[in-house]
Amino acid sequence: MKINQNTVLQGKKVTLVPYTAAHVPRYHEWMQSEELQRLTASEPLSLEQEYEMQRSWRDDTDKCTFIVLDTAQWSGQEDEECMVGDVNLFLTDTEDPTLGEIEIMIAEPSYRGRGFGKEATLLMMSYGVRNLGITKFEAKIGQENEVSICMFKKLHFQEVAVNSVFQEVTLRLDVNDQERRWLLEQTNHVEEKSYTDLKQPAEVLET
Ligand SMILES: CC(C)(COP(=O)(O)OP(=O)(O)OC[C@H]1O[C@@H](n2cnc3c(N)ncnc32)[C@H](O)[C@@H]1OP(=O)(O)O)[C@@H](O)C(=O)NCCC(=O)NCCS
Repeated sequence: MKINQNTVLQGKKVTLVPYTAAHVPRYHEWMQSEELQRLTASEPLSLEQEYEMQRSWRDDTDKCTFIVLDTAQWSGQEDEECMVGDVNLFLTDTEDPTLGEIEIMIAEPSYRGRGFGKEATLLMMSYGVRNLGITKFEAKIGQENEVSICMFKKLHFQEVAVNSVFQEVTLRLDVNDQERRWLLEQTNHVEEKSYTDLKQPAEVLET
């Protein structure tokens, strides 16, 4: 999605930046992990395929993605040095563009269990509600992934379906007025910035 190609969302623990070609090598390295492949139900890709995937995330109108950085490390360091994961929104229903399927990955094991996943998910949800007109979120999670299921439940999602063939549960959140207020309150500390103001413009345009 082009809409967020220059957007930086700076939170307390995490900063979300657009996924560019510069992030691909580290991302590709992460996805060699069998644990991450299993937890995120992903197939390993070649480096070239990962670059293609990055371009499709940037260009396709039904996909929005951010790379999750460690805010504390980011000032003064290159993105690649402080990447910890990614967060994605898919507009899965062509009939209903207000439905977003959300995915989150804190790829760096040493960053898990420290509130990074929760804040990154909240930032993405708030961005989706404010900028993309999302009013319903879904998350599809492996049945055995208790941490992720627990996290989405903490974020007010409710289990609505179990697929025993794929061993997957679907959690859902309808963003009514009350949930919208809660979400905006949870993210009122976030600063939105321009990526090109923070990076060399050429670096961003090349991506
Ligand atoms: C699942 C994942 C995104 C959670 O992010 P995280 O940064 O580790 O989690 P957080 O520290 O933000 O914790 C959020 C909530 O998750 C739950 N949680 C976190 N770690 C947990 C653990 N070890 N056991 C049980 N619940 C846990 C808690 O409910 C926590 O809320 P609380 O801190 O208010 O109690 C992250 O662990 C991850 O990416 N793991 C590998 C890939 C993956 O499973 N992705 C999801 C695919 S659907």
